[in-house]
Amino acid sequence: MEKVRICLAGAGRAGMVHAKNVVHYIRSAVLVALVDTNQKVLEESGRELGIKNLYTDYREALTRDDLEAVIIVTPTFTHAEIACYAAKNKKHIMLEKPMAQSPGECDRINDATKNNAVKLQIGFMRRFDVAFTKAKEIIDSGELGRVMIIKSPGRGPGLPPPWAYDLSRSNGMLAEVNSHDFDSIRWLVGSDYEKVYAQAENFKCQGLRKEYPDFYDNAVVNVRLKNGTLGSIDGTCPAGYGYDARVEILCEKGLIQIGDLKEPGFSQVKADGTTVGSTFKSWRDRFKDAYLAEMEHFVTAILNDNEPCVTGADGKKAVEAVIAANKSIQTDMPVELA
Ligand SMILES: NC(=O)c1ccc[n+]([C@@H]2O[C@H](COP(=O)([O-])OP(=O)(O)OC[C@H]3O[C@@H](n4cnc5c(N)ncnc54)[C@H](O)[C@@H]3O)[C@@H](O)[C@H]2O)c1
Repeated sequence: MEKVRICLAGAGRAGMVHAKNVVHYIRSAVLVALVDTNQKVLEESGRELGIKNLYTDYREALTRDDLEAVIIVTPTFTHAEIACYAAKNKKHIMLEKPMAQSPGECDRINDATKNNAVKLQIGFMRRFDVAFTKAKEIIDSGELGRVMIIKSPGRGPGLPPPWAYDLSRSNGMLAEVNSHDFDSIRWLVGSDYEKVYAQAENFKCQGLRKEYPDFYDNAVVNVRLKNGTLGSIDGTCPAGYGYDARVEILCEKGLIQIGDLKEPGFSQVKADGTTVGSTFKSWRDRFKDAYLAEMEHFVTAILNDNEPCVTGADGKKAVEAVIAANKSIQTDMPVELA
């Protein structure tokens, strides 16, 4: 196989990031087909990307025998169904986070990929970001001693798409936005969650509670990992001021800070000494290189027959932690993870 032939399922916000990376930057892959249930989105994205094989039903696309892989970027409540179908049709899978709606759905996906010997990579692109990987290296080297406290705000500039307002279909903001924080804390520290205690409020989107009574737009989750590390995740959506994915890691012998509020490479200093810069407008800007690196990793794993480094087991751990935090919000009690 010279080039991996890929289908994209879901040509929405994140889907187009992946599609453009494959079309414009990844030499060892080619985008062959697009699937989207929205005919208008399908035609527009097909035109923009120069793809002629367009489908509204993923089953028609995924039974094509000239495809090796699929990137699944549809709403979370469709992930398990599409991923299992893809696995049964022997397609390698790059699956966006959150992996699925429940640990049971994650098990179904993991079983289907294992039984059909196809690769599965979950879209935790922070693991491919230069600052995150540097922090991981420092922690693993032991240079700063053990991690004592890790703080991970994950704040998005605007509201997620409307399908994510409904907690029963999306697991809410903690899944849609903060899945990344749950994954990166666990990955950086190298330990699983022992306990979470979460509080949530709805400050900015009062109107949404009429239709979605569980909706929250702010949450703080205190976490304890099995190795004793303490941490917190906070989520806000819409934050308004930009996309904020800074992380602070307090170790026994020092401190690591990941990321910045402002885009690097530009700052203005005024006569009064104040500085001006612009914040990251979106996750697309903050993690631009990481999205490309994760897709390169996926394609290379297929070509070299390696296992991708972000697995279905990682995806399931993040889903479990999000569900525990939502349970904690509902019960106002700490929740232990198995
Ligand atoms: N890794 C990241 O940073 C990141 C960022 C944003 C979104 N995401 C994830 O990507 C996924 C999609 O989110 P989004 O914000 O792009 O959503 P979106 O609503 O913008 O796009 C989803 C697209 O999927 C299409 N669709 C819905 N059901 C479908 C089906 N059964 N088959 C084919 N197409 C279908 C919709 O018409 C829409 O165009 C979610 O799992 C989300 O959590 C990840």
